[in-house]
Amino acid sequence: MSADGAKPRSLDREGERSGRLSFAAVRYHLTSFGCQMNDHDSERMRGVLEEIGYRESASRDDADLILFNTCTIRGSADDRFMGNLGDAHRVKRERPDVVVAVGGCWAQSQQRMVFEQFPFVDIAFGPGEVARLGELIARERIDSVGAFSFDGAFSGGLPARRDRPHQAWLQISVGCNCVCSYCIVPTVRGRERSRTAREIVEEARGLAADGVREITLLGQNVNAYGRDIPKDERATFAELLGMVAGIDGIERVRYTSPHPKDMREDVIRVMAETPEVCDHLHLPAQSGSTRVLKRMRRTYSRERYLDLVHRLRDAIPDISLTTDLIVGFPGETDEDFAETLSLVREARYDGAYTFIYSPRPGTEAAEEMQDDVPAEVKRERIQALVELVQVTARERAQRFVGSTREVLVEGPSRNDAGRLRGRLSQNITVNFAGTAEPGTFARVSITDATSTTLGGVEVAALAAARG
Ligand code: 5AD
Ligand code: SF4
Repeated sequence: MSADGAKPRSLDREGERSGRLSFAAVRYHLTSFGCQMNDHDSERMRGVLEEIGYRESASRDDADLILFNTCTIRGSADDRFMGNLGDAHRVKRERPDVVVAVGGCWAQSQQRMVFEQFPFVDIAFGPGEVARLGELIARERIDSVGAFSFDGAFSGGLPARRDRPHQAWLQISVGCNCVCSYCIVPTVRGRERSRTAREIVEEARGLAADGVREITLLGQNVNAYGRDIPKDERATFAELLGMVAGIDGIERVRYTSPHPKDMREDVIRVMAETPEVCDHLHLPAQSGSTRVLKRMRRTYSRERYLDLVHRLRDAIPDISLTTDLIVGFPGETDEDFAETLSLVREARYDGAYTFIYSPRPGTEAAEEMQDDVPAEVKRERIQALVELVQVTARERAQRFVGSTREVLVEGPSRNDAGRLRGRLSQNITVNFAGTAEPGTFARVSITDATSTTLGGVEVAALAAARG
């Protein structure tokens, strides 16, 4: 906080003459990094702030509160954040009254060291403390504050400001009990904790009543859901999927990210038998080499992973599969990498996120293994992988061309406002000519495909044009 201790801005009451309690427009600027879990936490941060009278400002220069929701999954996430934090420092030098708050995974990884390294930061808090944001801001008037526990309320219960009217995330669990040797998430998000099925279904009903048509269930290891809840009180993940899918008004249910080791047969069955549960699965493989998977502590082999892929394809023939892959893990040989390439061919992914291994301080891989794959080799490998994924995805996308599909309309197309944008159950974006309203389903004749998007024409619109 500023040296004089006086913080004259924030929450000054106005409007008393009219007898209404309202607040002067105090403004916040939020930058969110990282995964969907963070995006979802950011919706909650916006909701909490707006409930206590803050309004969002388009620029840091106009903000009373500069807030970051950070990620630390790879070194590149830290680097991106550092650039932005430098900009906040500039604003703080110009206007010492501005409050700088840093939440999320990077903050959790640094804890109180944040204040030593970056003395201009007023508030630092971990991803488990989103519910306390209002309280932290109030306390900051007295002293700089840090909060890093994992036992706070689920952010899923907080007010939210959602920017997509027909689609919503729903957090079903937080934390992760896995011990993947490269991964910082268990350190920064804590152990797995599940919300009760009753709470989740209640939230889903509320979303449906608000006009939401598509819900994505979120958890760091989403399909491990419920293991921390007493047996007689818990629903299985498969049951939970069925319950959410059964809610009136909910037309689509997705979930992310599952761990292959926790992918049970009953979940595959519910996916196959429940029309509302989408035909898409993001199934992180990380590597195609059993030897590397073992060193990553993923607890499955290449063969077991592929067996799961084949069972999914047998049960849900039209499923689209996407994945995460890491290249350059310590000890990865040319042969190991060739196995990752062949996994991509065999699993026939519709898309993949590809990453160069990044040692994260404190993880087993960073502390106990040599980061021995040369940078040049890592670059070559990722390039070859990206090219193969693109080829595979483009081939896969061709299966839609010439067919008519249901598209949930999201709004105008991003690069052509005259067209509409929506998504298939398979999670592939379709840009199309048509007149359907956002939040409704359009029947779209698919006419063309790239590796990432499809193009088409709404069937009714097509009939009108012909007629
Ligand atoms: N280096 C590179 N990629 C990583 N991921 C997680 N940790 C690391 C790391 N240390 C990738 C994994 C994970 C995705 C979210 O990020 O592929 O599934
Ligand atoms: Fe980043 Fe992982 Fe935290 Fe998500 S959970 S914000 S990916 S570090």
